[in-house]
Amino acid sequence: MNDVVTPGTIALSLGANDANCPGPFSNHIRIDRQRGRFEVDQRAFMDEDTFRLEREKIFTKCWLFVGHDSEIPQPKDFITRNIGGFDLIFNRDRDGNVHAFYNYCTHRAPILNVQERGNANVFTCPYHGWVFGADGALKDYGAAYGYDEDFNSDGHYNLKAVPRLENYRGFWFMNMNQKAVDLATYLGSTKDVFDIMADQAGDAGLEVIRGEQHLINGGNWKVITDNFVDMYHGPSLHSSYFNDYAPSRTQNAEVGGSFIGGSGGFENGHNYAISRIGLGRPVAKWIPAFGEAAKPLIEAKKQELIDRFGAERAEIMAEHNRNMVVFPNLVVTDNVSLNVRTVFPESVDTFRMNIWTLGVKGEPEAIRDVRLRNHLSFVGPAGFAHPDDFEIFDLQRQAYHTTPHKWLDYSKGMRTDTVKDNDRRKVEGQLLNESQQRAWWTQWDRLVSGVETLE
Ligand code: FES
Ligand code: FE
Repeated sequence: MNDVVTPGTIALSLGANDANCPGPFSNHIRIDRQRGRFEVDQRAFMDEDTFRLEREKIFTKCWLFVGHDSEIPQPKDFITRNIGGFDLIFNRDRDGNVHAFYNYCTHRAPILNVQERGNANVFTCPYHGWVFGADGALKDYGAAYGYDEDFNSDGHYNLKAVPRLENYRGFWFMNMNQKAVDLATYLGSTKDVFDIMADQAGDAGLEVIRGEQHLINGGNWKVITDNFVDMYHGPSLHSSYFNDYAPSRTQNAEVGGSFIGGSGGFENGHNYAISRIGLGRPVAKWIPAFGEAAKPLIEAKKQELIDRFGAERAEIMAEHNRNMVVFPNLVVTDNVSLNVRTVFPESVDTFRMNIWTLGVKGEPEAIRDVRLRNHLSFVGPAGFAHPDDFEIFDLQRQAYHTTPHKWLDYSKGMRTDTVKDNDRRKVEGQLLNESQQRAWWTQWDRLVSGVETLE
């Protein structure tokens, strides 16, 4: 696995001096270096006060994914989305400039645009008829008299834009924190995964494939961020997929046992799991279940990657599966399909997850078909993964209130991890370890406790 994840330079010994990342700071994390234990208090998943702290110190401070370039390809295209508890209009104006406005009328506040997507030069409030341009400017009050001519000369009643909106390789993020570092700095090492995703598409570019999935489920939002980089549960919880279904698709009886790879954390609490599980990948790893029609297309794609990026990089792009969480709540997966998901809390014990799968613009129908079937077989509502995982989330939620065992364990690999720069967030371990969750929770602890403000 060392060809995938570079080992850190400093071996972690228990009691290592985490000079650049001491802690824990909140009373929800418990670390026992002598015994090699890292535990999280279940109240972090149940407590209303902690939930309020998360809203205040995480969701208004971190960069949050809003949407992809391809979702608003033309001038005046818009989509509406709730991000971090705020209704937004994500759109292009007539000149093609991208905006994210609060989707509320500046007169007396109703949600302005209730359509999910469309193309519009103006947004008109149904209440008193105020009209806003796609650039956010108030164009008309819908009234013949009663306002001075200079009523809005200072732009006071224009739509309000979110404080910060930036993109990396076509992935747009917003930040409520005016003082936040720029997006590229925040993303840090995760940029390489976005590069790999965007570069897979070559000159054609990536697009979000229409038909997104929205799921609302009972459970705290952090069960998702815990789960989607957790490879440890793959062979057990998803046994039917990895041990029964996958061998028949790949015609490789060993595929279910091929969990090799690495996991860990990047800066800012982002984390990852990178594997060489021998499943098919629409980008450039053919398996028999993809069918003969797709085989030459996928092999040609692999050759194109080699020609453009060299054999070593092409191998990483074609063969390696990546799961990643961009702290706090963007889940990026480049494995059996290419998809991004956001998870937002609706309440302390309800979350909403949105899933968008991506493909290469204009790719052959045979490849698009393989891509979508591969996606749905694992991630779809009736796929192999979600029903299993969601059953567990439900069982966890039921248990939190009654189990006498109040601390959740994230210790796996703690004695063998490596840590870079004496910073526990930059931990590296084997694929089936829990290094990645420790990295995420370490950042969570720093933020909710107020030790780190991201300003
Ligand atoms: Fe929107 Fe009055 S509330 S125009
Ligand atoms: Fe799972």
